[in-house]
Amino acid sequence: MGDNRLGAIADDLATQGWSWQPALMPEALTRALREELVAREAAAALEAAGIGRESDYQVDRTIRRTRITWFDGSTPAQQDFQMWTEALRASLNRELMLGLFEMEVCFAVYPPGGFYERHLDSFAGARNRVVSLVAYLNEDWDEARGGALAVWNEGAADGADPAARIVPQPGGVMLMLSEAIPHEVEVTHETRYGLAGWWRVNQSGMDRIDPLS
Ligand code: OGA
Ligand code: MN
Repeated sequence: MGDNRLGAIADDLATQGWSWQPALMPEALTRALREELVAREAAAALEAAGIGRESDYQVDRTIRRTRITWFDGSTPAQQDFQMWTEALRASLNRELMLGLFEMEVCFAVYPPGGFYERHLDSFAGARNRVVSLVAYLNEDWDEARGGALAVWNEGAADGADPAARIVPQPGGVMLMLSEAIPHEVEVTHETRYGLAGWWRVNQSGMDRIDPLS
């Protein structure tokens, strides 16, 4: 990641609270993460078929229809991703003094018909998620496949038009202030692969140490 790109991200976050960066992730990393996710999906589908239920990891289907699995840092692709995000973290801490500490990450698969209604990633003041990062892992994508990410500026009214609608192109990365920027995943018509990560700040104090996991 060049300094120009890092500087633009910090500027965007400071001025509008979000930053869309097409093709930010190196192609090899995008491919390695996609391959891991596709393999995980195949294994989970086999397992679910074996025990006769659909999936272990469905969440509330009325606001969200997606399958997530958490990173555990056990594979080279996950480790490469975490190393790659370090430059971003260092830059944001230097430029915006955010004190970002640790990132939690999950893979997210939206099956056809999948969506995630308008939401914030963190409740104001909770400080548990400060900056969100979303990265797209499909091989290619276009508007007709659905699954756009709609983004609103801070404080936008409920019915307002979004500030942007992002087509989830491979390697594209969206960064958002987790407590401020409402966003939504529109209904996808094809399987949509991605990941979502959140940096939190270290809330260790005199008498309290945040656990690392
Ligand atoms: C999320 C989320 C957006 C996307 O996982 O919280 O908003 O485009 N994801 O996948
Ligand atoms: Mn979100």
